[in-house]
Amino acid sequence: MKNNLNIIVLAAGQGKRMKSVLPKVLHPIAGKPMLHHVLATAQTLDPASICIVYGHGGEQVRAQTSIASSKSQLSWAKQEPQLGTGHAVQQALPHLPNDGVALILYGDVPLISAATLSTLVAAAGENKLAWLTMTVANADGLGRILRDEHHRVTAIVEHKDASDEQRKIMEINTGFLACPVAWLSSWLPKLQNANAQGEYYLTDILAMAVADGVAVETHSPAAEWEVAGINSKDQLAQLERTYQLEIAKRLMADGTSLADPARIDVRGTLTCGNGTISDVFIDVNCLFEGAVHLAANVRIGANCVLKDCHIGENTEILPFSSIDGATIGKGARIGPYARIRPATTLADNTHIGNFVEVKASEIGVGSKANHLSYIGDTTIGANVNVGAGTITCNYDGVNKHRTIIEDNVQIGSDVQLVAPVTIGKGATIGAGTTVWKNAPPATLTLNKKEQISLAGWTRPVKNT
Ligand code: UD1
Ligand code: MG
Repeated sequence: MKNNLNIIVLAAGQGKRMKSVLPKVLHPIAGKPMLHHVLATAQTLDPASICIVYGHGGEQVRAQTSIASSKSQLSWAKQEPQLGTGHAVQQALPHLPNDGVALILYGDVPLISAATLSTLVAAAGENKLAWLTMTVANADGLGRILRDEHHRVTAIVEHKDASDEQRKIMEINTGFLACPVAWLSSWLPKLQNANAQGEYYLTDILAMAVADGVAVETHSPAAEWEVAGINSKDQLAQLERTYQLEIAKRLMADGTSLADPARIDVRGTLTCGNGTISDVFIDVNCLFEGAVHLAANVRIGANCVLKDCHIGENTEILPFSSIDGATIGKGARIGPYARIRPATTLADNTHIGNFVEVKASEIGVGSKANHLSYIGDTTIGANVNVGAGTITCNYDGVNKHRTIIEDNVQIGSDVQLVAPVTIGKGATIGAGTTVWKNAPPATLTLNKKEQISLAGWTRPVKNT
Protein backbone atom coordinates (compact mmCIF):
# COMPACT_ATOMS: atom_id res chain seq x y z
CA MET A 1 0.00 0.00 0.00
CA LYS A 2 1.28 3.46 -0.84
CA ASN A 3 2.23 5.39 2.26
CA ASN A 4 -0.08 8.39 2.35
CA LEU A 5 1.80 10.14 5.14
CA ASN A 6 2.96 13.67 4.38
CA ILE A 7 5.15 15.55 6.80
CA ILE A 8 5.20 19.30 7.30
CA VAL A 9 8.19 20.79 9.12
CA LEU A 10 7.74 24.33 10.43
CA ALA A 11 11.05 26.14 10.25
CA ALA A 12 10.19 29.75 9.50
CA GLY A 13 10.76 31.27 12.92
CA GLN A 14 13.53 33.87 13.13
CA GLY A 15 15.22 32.71 16.28
CA LYS A 16 16.07 36.25 17.34
CA ARG A 17 17.19 35.09 20.77
CA MET A 18 20.00 33.00 19.25
CA LYS A 19 21.69 36.34 18.35
CA SER A 20 23.31 34.70 15.35
CA VAL A 21 23.57 35.13 11.59
CA LEU A 22 22.99 31.37 11.33
CA PRO A 23 19.28 30.55 10.96
CA LYS A 24 18.00 28.94 14.15
CA VAL A 25 17.24 25.52 12.66
CA LEU A 26 20.83 25.17 11.42
CA HIS A 27 22.31 25.42 14.91
CA PRO A 28 23.72 22.02 15.81
CA ILE A 29 22.84 19.40 18.37
CA ALA A 30 25.56 16.75 18.52
CA GLY A 31 27.30 18.37 15.57
CA LYS A 32 24.27 18.15 13.26
CA PRO A 33 21.81 20.98 12.45
CA MET A 34 18.58 20.69 14.43
CA LEU A 35 16.56 20.57 11.20
CA HIS A 36 18.64 17.62 9.97
CA HIS A 37 17.81 15.66 13.14
CA VAL A 38 14.12 16.29 12.46
CA LEU A 39 14.43 15.24 8.80
CA ALA A 40 16.36 12.08 9.72
CA THR A 41 13.61 11.10 12.15
CA ALA A 42 10.91 12.05 9.63
CA GLN A 43 12.44 9.76 7.01
CA THR A 44 12.28 6.74 9.32
CA LEU A 45 8.48 7.00 8.91
CA ASP A 46 8.86 6.60 5.13
CA PRO A 47 6.53 9.49 4.23
CA ALA A 48 5.36 10.14 0.68
CA SER A 49 6.52 13.73 1.02
CA ILE A 50 8.17 16.22 3.34
CA CYS A 51 7.43 19.93 3.04
CA ILE A 52 9.63 22.42 4.89
CA VAL A 53 8.07 25.78 5.65
CA TYR A 54 10.88 28.31 5.68
CA GLY A 55 11.23 32.03 6.10
CA HIS A 56 14.07 33.86 7.76
CA GLY A 57 17.45 32.83 6.33
CA GLY A 58 15.58 30.43 4.10
CA GLU A 59 18.06 30.35 1.23
CA GLN A 60 20.84 29.28 3.58
CA VAL A 61 18.59 26.60 5.09
CA ARG A 62 17.67 25.31 1.61
CA ALA A 63 21.29 25.26 0.46
CA GLN A 64 22.34 23.18 3.45
CA THR A 65 19.44 20.74 3.52
CA SER A 66 18.64 17.64 1.53
CA ILE A 67 17.18 14.24 2.32
CA ALA A 68 18.72 10.84 1.80
CA SER A 69 15.53 8.94 1.04
CA SER A 70 14.53 8.64 -2.58
CA LYS A 71 11.09 7.43 -1.48
CA SER A 72 10.07 10.79 -0.01
CA GLN A 73 9.65 13.90 -2.09
CA LEU A 74 11.08 17.06 -0.56
CA SER A 75 9.39 20.42 -1.17
CA TRP A 76 9.81 23.93 0.20
CA ALA A 77 7.12 26.48 1.05
CA LYS A 78 8.05 30.06 1.80
CA GLN A 79 6.17 31.83 4.58
CA GLU A 80 6.53 35.58 4.29
CA PRO A 81 5.46 37.39 6.39
CA GLN A 82 5.20 35.05 9.35
CA LEU A 83 1.70 35.36 10.69
CA GLY A 84 1.59 32.41 13.08
CA THR A 85 1.74 28.62 13.17
CA GLY A 86 -1.65 28.18 11.48
CA HIS A 87 -0.59 30.50 8.65
CA ALA A 88 2.68 28.55 8.36
CA VAL A 89 0.93 25.19 7.89
CA GLN A 90 -1.36 26.83 5.33
CA GLN A 91 1.67 27.64 3.15
CA ALA A 92 2.49 23.92 2.95
CA LEU A 93 -0.99 22.79 1.89
CA PRO A 94 -0.53 23.33 -1.88
CA HIS A 95 2.37 20.84 -1.70
CA LEU A 96 0.29 18.09 -0.08
CA PRO A 97 -2.10 15.56 -1.68
CA ASN A 98 -5.61 16.25 -0.42
CA ASP A 99 -6.23 12.54 0.21
CA GLY A 100 -3.16 12.14 2.43
CA VAL A 101 -2.54 12.32 6.16
CA ALA A 102 -0.42 15.20 7.49
CA LEU A 103 2.01 15.11 10.40
CA ILE A 104 3.34 18.43 11.70
CA LEU A 105 6.89 18.68 13.06
CA TYR A 106 9.11 21.59 14.11
CA GLY A 107 12.62 22.43 12.90
CA ASP A 108 13.55 23.76 16.32
CA VAL A 109 12.29 20.71 18.26
CA PRO A 110 15.09 18.37 17.22
CA LEU A 111 14.80 15.32 19.43
CA ILE A 112 11.26 14.10 18.80
CA SER A 113 11.47 10.32 18.53
CA ALA A 114 10.33 8.13 15.67
CA ALA A 115 8.44 5.95 18.18
CA THR A 116 6.37 8.88 19.45
CA LEU A 117 5.59 10.03 15.91
CA SER A 118 4.58 6.53 14.81
CA THR A 119 2.17 6.33 17.73
CA LEU A 120 0.71 9.70 16.78
CA VAL A 121 0.29 8.75 13.12
CA ALA A 122 -1.29 5.40 14.06
CA ALA A 123 -3.68 7.23 16.43
CA ALA A 124 -4.78 9.59 13.65
CA GLY A 125 -5.46 6.70 11.29
CA GLU A 126 -7.48 7.88 8.30
CA ASN A 127 -10.11 9.90 10.09
CA LYS A 128 -9.02 11.23 13.47
CA LEU A 129 -7.11 14.19 14.80
CA ALA A 130 -4.21 13.01 16.97
CA TRP A 131 -2.51 15.59 19.17
CA LEU A 132 0.63 15.25 21.25
CA THR A 133 0.17 16.78 24.70
CA MET A 134 2.13 16.48 27.90
CA THR A 135 1.72 17.21 31.58
CA VAL A 136 4.70 19.26 32.71
CA ALA A 137 5.97 20.85 35.92
CA ASN A 138 6.41 24.30 34.35
CA ALA A 139 3.86 25.28 31.71
CA ASP A 140 4.92 28.90 31.47
CA GLY A 141 4.42 30.39 28.01
CA LEU A 142 2.88 27.26 26.54
CA GLY A 143 -0.57 26.53 25.12
CA ARG A 144 -2.89 24.80 27.64
CA ILE A 145 -5.15 21.83 26.83
CA LEU A 146 -8.75 22.45 27.85
CA ARG A 147 -10.93 19.40 28.68
CA ASP A 148 -14.59 19.04 29.62
CA GLU A 149 -16.04 17.25 32.65
CA HIS A 150 -15.70 13.91 30.77
CA HIS A 151 -11.99 14.63 30.26
CA ARG A 152 -12.57 15.14 26.52
CA VAL A 153 -10.36 17.78 24.88
CA THR A 154 -12.30 20.83 23.81
CA ALA A 155 -9.73 23.46 22.82
CA ILE A 156 -6.23 24.86 23.29
CA VAL A 157 -5.70 28.27 24.80
CA GLU A 158 -2.38 30.06 24.39
CA HIS A 159 -0.67 31.23 27.57
CA LYS A 160 -1.04 34.90 26.59
CA ASP A 161 -4.77 34.45 26.02
CA ALA A 162 -5.40 32.22 29.05
CA SER A 163 -7.23 33.21 32.26
CA ASP A 164 -5.51 32.78 35.62
CA GLU A 165 -7.61 29.66 36.15
CA GLN A 166 -6.57 28.19 32.76
CA ARG A 167 -2.92 28.95 33.47
CA LYS A 168 -3.09 26.48 36.36
CA ILE A 169 -3.56 23.66 33.83
CA MET A 170 -0.34 21.68 33.50
CA GLU A 171 -1.28 19.70 30.39
CA ILE A 172 0.34 21.59 27.51
CA ASN A 173 0.38 21.59 23.75
CA THR A 174 3.63 20.21 22.37
CA GLY A 175 2.68 21.41 18.86
CA PHE A 176 2.89 17.97 17.23
CA LEU A 177 -0.26 16.65 15.55
CA ALA A 178 -1.47 14.37 12.79
CA CYS A 179 -4.72 14.41 10.80
CA PRO A 180 -6.06 14.07 7.26
CA VAL A 181 -4.84 16.84 4.92
CA ALA A 182 -8.40 17.49 3.77
CA TRP A 183 -9.36 18.70 7.24
CA LEU A 184 -6.44 21.06 7.46
CA SER A 185 -7.61 22.43 4.11
CA SER A 186 -11.08 23.04 5.49
CA TRP A 187 -10.07 24.41 8.92
CA LEU A 188 -7.03 26.60 8.27
CA PRO A 189 -8.75 29.17 5.99
CA LYS A 190 -11.26 29.77 8.80
CA LEU A 191 -8.64 30.81 11.38
CA GLN A 192 -8.95 34.28 12.88
CA ASN A 193 -6.16 36.33 14.39
CA ALA A 194 -8.20 38.12 17.03
CA ASN A 195 -5.96 37.06 19.92
CA ALA A 196 -3.26 38.44 22.20
CA GLN A 197 -0.51 37.96 19.60
CA GLY A 198 -2.50 38.88 16.48
CA GLU A 199 -1.44 35.54 14.95
CA TYR A 200 -3.22 32.75 13.10
CA TYR A 201 -2.91 29.99 15.68
CA LEU A 202 -2.67 26.38 14.48
CA THR A 203 -3.99 25.44 17.91
CA ASP A 204 -7.42 26.87 17.08
CA ILE A 205 -8.12 23.94 14.74
CA LEU A 206 -8.63 21.70 17.77
CA ALA A 207 -11.85 23.46 18.74
CA MET A 208 -12.92 23.35 15.06
CA ALA A 209 -12.40 19.59 15.02
CA VAL A 210 -14.51 19.21 18.14
CA ALA A 211 -17.23 21.39 16.58
CA ASP A 212 -17.17 19.20 13.45
CA GLY A 213 -17.57 16.06 15.57
CA VAL A 214 -14.14 14.74 14.60
CA ALA A 215 -12.64 12.28 17.09
CA VAL A 216 -9.62 13.79 18.84
CA GLU A 217 -7.00 11.51 20.37
CA THR A 218 -4.24 12.73 22.64
CA HIS A 219 -0.92 11.04 23.29
CA SER A 220 2.20 11.90 25.29
CA PRO A 221 5.86 11.41 24.42
CA ALA A 222 7.98 9.07 26.54
CA ALA A 223 10.23 11.91 27.69
CA GLU A 224 9.85 15.67 28.00
CA TRP A 225 13.10 16.36 26.12
CA GLU A 226 11.51 14.91 22.97
CA VAL A 227 9.30 17.98 22.71
CA ALA A 228 11.76 20.58 24.00
CA GLY A 229 11.96 23.52 21.59
CA ILE A 230 15.06 25.66 21.23
CA ASN A 231 14.93 29.45 21.42
CA SER A 232 18.27 30.35 23.00
CA LYS A 233 21.88 29.21 23.28
CA ASP A 234 21.17 28.25 26.88
CA GLN A 235 18.34 25.89 25.84
CA LEU A 236 20.53 24.53 23.02
CA ALA A 237 23.34 23.70 25.46
CA GLN A 238 20.92 22.09 27.92
CA LEU A 239 19.35 19.90 25.24
CA GLU A 240 22.81 18.94 23.99
CA ARG A 241 23.67 17.60 27.46
CA THR A 242 20.34 15.76 27.66
CA TYR A 243 21.00 14.15 24.28
CA GLN A 244 24.57 13.20 25.23
CA LEU A 245 23.38 11.68 28.50
CA GLU A 246 20.88 9.53 26.58
CA ILE A 247 23.71 8.29 24.34
CA ALA A 248 25.84 7.61 27.43
CA LYS A 249 23.01 5.57 28.98
CA ARG A 250 22.67 3.50 25.78
CA LEU A 251 26.41 2.82 25.68
CA MET A 252 26.40 1.72 29.32
CA ALA A 253 23.33 -0.47 28.74
CA ASP A 254 25.35 -2.21 26.02
CA GLY A 255 28.18 -2.93 28.44
CA THR A 256 30.54 0.02 27.93
CA SER A 257 32.03 1.62 31.06
CA LEU A 258 32.20 5.40 31.15
CA ALA A 259 34.35 7.11 33.76
CA ASP A 260 31.74 9.88 33.79
CA PRO A 261 28.56 9.72 31.68
CA ALA A 262 28.36 13.53 31.87
CA ARG A 263 31.74 13.92 30.18
CA ILE A 264 31.42 12.19 26.81
CA ASP A 265 30.36 13.72 23.49
CA VAL A 266 29.21 11.71 20.50
CA ARG A 267 28.65 13.68 17.30
CA GLY A 268 27.72 10.84 14.97
CA THR A 269 27.50 7.16 15.81
CA LEU A 270 29.63 5.32 18.33
CA THR A 271 29.32 1.54 18.54
CA CYS A 272 31.19 -0.56 21.07
CA GLY A 273 31.88 -4.27 21.45
CA ASN A 274 30.64 -7.18 19.41
CA GLY A 275 26.92 -6.92 20.09
CA THR A 276 26.98 -9.22 23.12
CA ILE A 277 30.04 -8.09 25.07
CA SER A 278 31.59 -4.64 25.20
CA ASP A 279 34.00 -4.23 28.13
CA VAL A 280 35.10 -1.02 26.45
CA PHE A 281 36.26 1.64 28.90
CA ILE A 282 36.12 5.34 28.04
CA ASP A 283 37.78 7.83 30.36
CA VAL A 284 36.63 11.44 30.80
CA ASN A 285 36.36 14.18 28.16
CA CYS A 286 36.43 12.09 25.01
CA LEU A 287 34.84 13.26 21.76
CA PHE A 288 33.64 10.86 19.04
CA GLU A 289 32.74 12.19 15.59
CA GLY A 290 31.36 10.55 12.46
CA ALA A 291 31.22 6.75 12.56
CA VAL A 292 33.43 5.25 15.25
CA HIS A 293 33.60 1.59 16.25
CA LEU A 294 35.48 0.38 19.31
CA ALA A 295 35.81 -3.40 19.42
CA ALA A 296 35.55 -5.38 22.66
CA ASN A 297 37.84 -4.46 25.52
CA VAL A 298 39.21 -1.28 23.92
CA ARG A 299 40.36 1.36 26.42
CA ILE A 300 40.24 5.05 25.58
CA GLY A 301 42.22 7.38 27.82
CA ALA A 302 41.14 10.83 28.92
CA ASN A 303 40.83 13.73 26.45
CA CYS A 304 40.92 11.77 23.19
CA VAL A 305 39.24 12.82 19.94
CA LEU A 306 38.27 9.98 17.60
CA LYS A 307 36.67 10.53 14.21
CA ASP A 308 35.60 7.99 11.56
CA CYS A 309 37.73 5.14 12.80
CA HIS A 310 37.68 1.47 13.72
CA ILE A 311 39.69 0.33 16.72
CA GLY A 312 40.39 -3.40 17.12
CA GLU A 313 39.95 -5.58 20.22
CA ASN A 314 42.14 -5.01 23.27
CA THR A 315 43.72 -1.89 21.80
CA GLU A 316 44.54 0.94 24.16
CA ILE A 317 44.39 4.60 23.17
CA LEU A 318 46.28 6.61 25.76
CA PRO A 319 45.30 10.19 26.80
CA PHE A 320 45.28 13.24 24.52
CA SER A 321 45.39 11.27 21.27
CA SER A 322 43.67 12.36 18.06
CA ILE A 323 42.59 9.72 15.54
CA ASP A 324 40.86 10.60 12.28
CA GLY A 325 40.01 8.27 9.41
CA ALA A 326 42.03 5.27 10.57
CA THR A 327 41.71 1.55 11.05
CA ILE A 328 43.66 0.17 13.97
CA GLY A 329 44.11 -3.53 14.63
CA LYS A 330 43.98 -5.61 17.80
CA GLY A 331 46.24 -5.20 20.81
CA ALA A 332 47.74 -1.93 19.59
CA ARG A 333 48.91 0.86 21.88
CA ILE A 334 48.49 4.44 20.68
CA GLY A 335 49.55 7.62 22.48
CA PRO A 336 49.66 9.45 24.75
CA TYR A 337 49.68 12.51 22.47
CA ALA A 338 49.58 10.56 19.19
CA ARG A 339 48.06 12.03 16.04
CA ILE A 340 46.71 9.53 13.51
CA ARG A 341 45.44 11.16 10.33
CA PRO A 342 43.19 9.91 7.48
CA ALA A 343 43.93 6.89 5.29
CA THR A 344 46.04 5.20 7.94
CA THR A 345 45.95 1.50 8.75
CA LEU A 346 47.79 0.21 11.77
CA ALA A 347 48.00 -3.58 12.03
CA ASP A 348 47.70 -5.71 15.19
CA ASN A 349 50.13 -5.07 18.04
CA THR A 350 51.50 -1.82 16.61
CA HIS A 351 52.74 0.88 18.98
CA ILE A 352 52.52 4.57 18.15
CA GLY A 353 53.87 6.73 20.94
CA ASN A 354 53.95 10.32 22.06
CA PHE A 355 54.20 13.16 19.55
CA VAL A 356 54.11 10.78 16.61
CA GLU A 357 52.08 11.88 13.59
CA VAL A 358 51.02 9.25 11.05
CA LYS A 359 49.30 10.17 7.78
CA ALA A 360 48.15 8.03 4.80
CA SER A 361 50.34 5.15 5.89
CA GLU A 362 50.13 1.43 6.52
CA ILE A 363 52.06 0.02 9.41
CA GLY A 364 52.51 -3.76 9.67
CA VAL A 365 52.07 -6.19 12.55
CA GLY A 366 54.14 -5.51 15.64
CA SER A 367 55.87 -2.40 14.25
CA LYS A 368 56.63 0.55 16.52
CA ALA A 369 57.22 4.29 16.31
CA ASN A 370 57.32 5.32 19.90
CA HIS A 371 58.63 8.87 20.02
CA LEU A 372 58.54 12.19 18.15
CA SER A 373 58.14 11.16 14.50
CA TYR A 374 56.37 12.09 11.30
CA ILE A 375 55.33 9.15 9.15
CA GLY A 376 53.51 10.28 6.01
CA ASP A 377 52.66 8.42 2.78
CA THR A 378 54.58 5.42 4.05
CA THR A 379 54.23 1.65 3.93
CA ILE A 380 55.91 -0.07 6.83
CA GLY A 381 56.17 -3.86 7.04
CA ALA A 382 56.08 -6.12 10.11
CA ASN A 383 58.36 -5.86 13.15
CA VAL A 384 59.91 -2.55 12.17
CA ASN A 385 61.26 -0.20 14.81
CA VAL A 386 61.26 3.48 13.92
CA GLY A 387 63.65 5.41 16.16
CA ALA A 388 62.85 8.61 17.98
CA GLY A 389 62.74 11.74 15.87
CA THR A 390 62.55 9.96 12.51
CA ILE A 391 60.93 12.00 9.75
CA THR A 392 59.67 10.89 6.36
CA CYS A 393 60.37 13.78 3.98
CA ASN A 394 57.35 13.06 1.79
CA TYR A 395 56.88 16.46 0.17
CA ASP A 396 59.24 18.08 -2.31
CA GLY A 397 57.27 21.31 -2.29
CA VAL A 398 55.12 20.20 -5.23
CA ASN A 399 54.36 16.48 -5.00
CA LYS A 400 54.01 13.88 -2.27
CA HIS A 401 56.17 10.74 -2.52
CA ARG A 402 56.02 7.35 -0.79
CA THR A 403 58.46 5.78 1.59
CA ILE A 404 58.61 1.98 1.76
CA ILE A 405 60.10 0.29 4.79
CA GLU A 406 60.20 -3.50 4.52
CA ASP A 407 59.89 -6.11 7.30
CA ASN A 408 62.33 -6.26 10.23
CA VAL A 409 63.95 -2.90 9.52
CA GLN A 410 65.61 -1.04 12.38
CA ILE A 411 65.71 2.73 11.94
CA GLY A 412 67.93 4.66 14.33
CA SER A 413 67.01 7.92 15.97
CA ASP A 414 66.78 11.22 14.12
CA VAL A 415 66.74 9.75 10.61
CA GLN A 416 65.36 11.58 7.57
CA LEU A 417 63.91 9.37 4.85
CA VAL A 418 63.75 11.44 1.66
CA ALA A 419 60.95 9.97 -0.45
CA PRO A 420 60.59 8.27 -2.82
CA VAL A 421 62.80 5.78 -1.07
CA THR A 422 62.78 2.11 -0.10
CA ILE A 423 64.47 0.53 2.91
CA GLY A 424 65.08 -3.15 2.15
CA LYS A 425 64.08 -6.04 4.38
CA GLY A 426 66.14 -6.41 7.52
CA ALA A 427 68.15 -3.23 6.90
CA THR A 428 69.51 -1.08 9.70
CA ILE A 429 69.77 2.70 9.37
CA GLY A 430 72.25 4.43 11.63
CA ALA A 431 71.22 7.29 13.89
CA GLY A 432 71.20 10.72 12.30
CA THR A 433 71.26 9.40 8.72
CA THR A 434 69.69 11.26 5.83
CA VAL A 435 68.55 8.50 3.48
CA TRP A 436 68.05 9.80 -0.07
CA LYS A 437 68.85 6.62 -1.98
CA ASN A 438 67.34 3.18 -1.51
CA ALA A 439 68.92 1.24 1.36
CA PRO A 440 69.67 -2.38 0.48
CA PRO A 441 68.29 -5.24 2.59
CA ALA A 442 70.20 -6.72 5.51
CA THR A 443 72.90 -4.05 5.59
CA LEU A 444 73.77 -1.06 7.75
CA THR A 445 73.24 2.25 5.99
CA LEU A 446 74.61 5.48 7.41
CA ASN A 447 76.07 8.82 6.32
CA LYS A 448 79.74 9.39 6.85
CA LYS A 449 80.14 12.25 9.24
CA GLU A 450 83.20 13.45 10.99
CA GLN A 451 83.08 14.02 14.73
CA ILE A 452 85.52 16.62 15.99
CA SER A 453 86.19 18.00 19.45
CA LEU A 454 87.74 21.44 19.87
CA ALA A 455 89.97 21.81 22.84
CA GLY A 456 90.42 25.30 24.24
CA TRP A 457 87.00 26.45 23.14
CA THR A 458 85.17 28.46 25.78
CA ARG A 459 81.47 29.10 26.16
CA PRO A 460 80.21 32.61 25.51
CA VAL A 461 79.82 34.67 28.65
CA LYS A 462 76.63 36.66 29.30
CA ASN A 463 77.02 40.38 28.58
CA THR A 464 76.69 42.51 31.67
C1 UD1 B 1 3.47 27.21 20.03
C2 UD1 B 1 2.02 26.78 20.27
C3 UD1 B 1 1.84 26.49 21.76
C4 UD1 B 1 2.78 25.39 22.18
C5 UD1 B 1 4.22 25.79 21.84
C6 UD1 B 1 5.13 24.62 22.10
C7 UD1 B 1 0.67 27.92 18.61
C8 UD1 B 1 -0.23 29.05 18.34
N1 UD1 B 1 1.15 27.84 19.83
O1 UD1 B 1 3.68 28.41 20.75
O2 UD1 B 1 0.50 26.08 22.00
O3 UD1 B 1 2.65 25.13 23.57
O4 UD1 B 1 4.34 26.16 20.46
O5 UD1 B 1 6.46 25.02 21.93
O6 UD1 B 1 0.90 27.12 17.74
N2 UD1 B 1 6.56 29.16 13.16
C9 UD1 B 1 6.55 29.38 11.80
N3 UD1 B 1 5.87 30.44 11.29
C10 UD1 B 1 5.20 31.31 12.11
C11 UD1 B 1 5.23 31.10 13.49
C12 UD1 B 1 5.91 30.01 13.99
O7 UD1 B 1 7.14 28.60 11.04
O8 UD1 B 1 4.61 32.25 11.57
C13 UD1 B 1 7.27 28.00 13.69
C14 UD1 B 1 8.45 28.41 14.54
O9 UD1 B 1 9.64 28.42 13.76
C15 UD1 B 1 8.52 27.28 15.57
C16 UD1 B 1 7.05 26.85 15.72
O10 UD1 B 1 6.40 27.30 14.56
O11 UD1 B 1 9.22 26.19 15.08
C17 UD1 B 1 6.39 27.38 16.97
O12 UD1 B 1 6.42 28.77 16.95
P1 UD1 B 1 6.59 29.63 18.25
O13 UD1 B 1 6.46 31.06 17.93
O14 UD1 B 1 7.77 29.18 19.01
O15 UD1 B 1 5.27 29.17 19.03
P2 UD1 B 1 4.90 29.45 20.50
O16 UD1 B 1 4.35 30.83 20.60
O17 UD1 B 1 5.99 29.08 21.39
MG1 MG C 1 5.01 32.66 19.01
